[in-house]
Amino acid sequence: MAAPSSEQVIESQRQDWNRVAGGWEKWDRFFDEQMAFLNHRLVADARLRSGMRVLDLGSGTGYPALLAAQAVGSTGGVTGIDLAEQMLEAAGRKAASLKLSNITFKTGDVTTLPFDTASFDAVTTRFCLMFLPEIPKAVAEIVRVLKADSWLSAAVWSAPERNPYLKIPIDIIKQFVDIPPPDPSAPGIFRLARPGDLVGMLQQAGFVDLSEYEFLGDVRFSTADEYFSSLMDIAAPIQNLWMKLTPTQQTEARQRIIQTTAQYQKGSAIALPIAVRMIAGRKPG
Ligand SMILES: C[S@@+](CC[C@H](N)C(=O)[O-])C[C@H]1O[C@@H](n2cnc3c(N)ncnc32)[C@H](O)[C@@H]1O
Repeated sequence: MAAPSSEQVIESQRQDWNRVAGGWEKWDRFFDEQMAFLNHRLVADARLRSGMRVLDLGSGTGYPALLAAQAVGSTGGVTGIDLAEQMLEAAGRKAASLKLSNITFKTGDVTTLPFDTASFDAVTTRFCLMFLPEIPKAVAEIVRVLKADSWLSAAVWSAPERNPYLKIPIDIIKQFVDIPPPDPSAPGIFRLARPGDLVGMLQQAGFVDLSEYEFLGDVRFSTADEYFSSLMDIAAPIQNLWMKLTPTQQTEARQRIIQTTAQYQKGSAIALPIAVRMIAGRKPG
């Protein structure tokens, strides 16, 4: 079967994330608390300070854009861009409830940024770049819209073996249906998991002072059921695999996923490890 075109990938992404926008809003408080440490690291790596104009790519329901808006204050501003209008509507509701008036959300594709050259003091992005069909094209756009001597900070998922939080259901779904190994260059959760991949693209585009490391953590659930329901509500790519199972297979798979999480019990919580590749670089002055 021919690989989908860039336009087809982008349209599927838009539909996928719109489909799970309600789930993101439902679990917002939980995941905000669990993954806020990543946002703080992104804000630090982008060297944000008051007065800056920041662009957040693939903001979804507002991460790390909302924290960035707090960091740059009323003299600065944040623009969040995303394909999925329903994710952005949720982000907008959160900005309003936080009384943030220095943030705007705009629908659009990260590979063709609708902004002037040299119009931002920093770019941040969490869990978006690996879903793009043409990452180098997006990197060229990031370089274009950044002012000289400004930073990009990015978070992408590291390898599946380092991320039981995501790997457990994928492995179990594979016990029921044949899923061919993903083309390593095709968009997907682990597309930028290899060390050096994104950094290499940034280097080629002219970024300097590049850094890359794996940020380890875990997501803590009170029950295995909470883990299963929350992940299936928000993880569009895993939901897509899940939909390949028959209802009987889903019942059995759910049971196996819940059983597998037992080994991660830590005190009263189930703590599922995550590993996030954090990358930063500066556009030279
Ligand atoms: C896993 S969500 C991450 C959202 C948010 N940054 C976070 O970490 O919570 C991925 C987001 O990337 C967006 N996205 C995927 N491809 C995109 C593209 N080509 N342009 C803009 N946004 C895109 C999706 O619509 C989705 O909201």
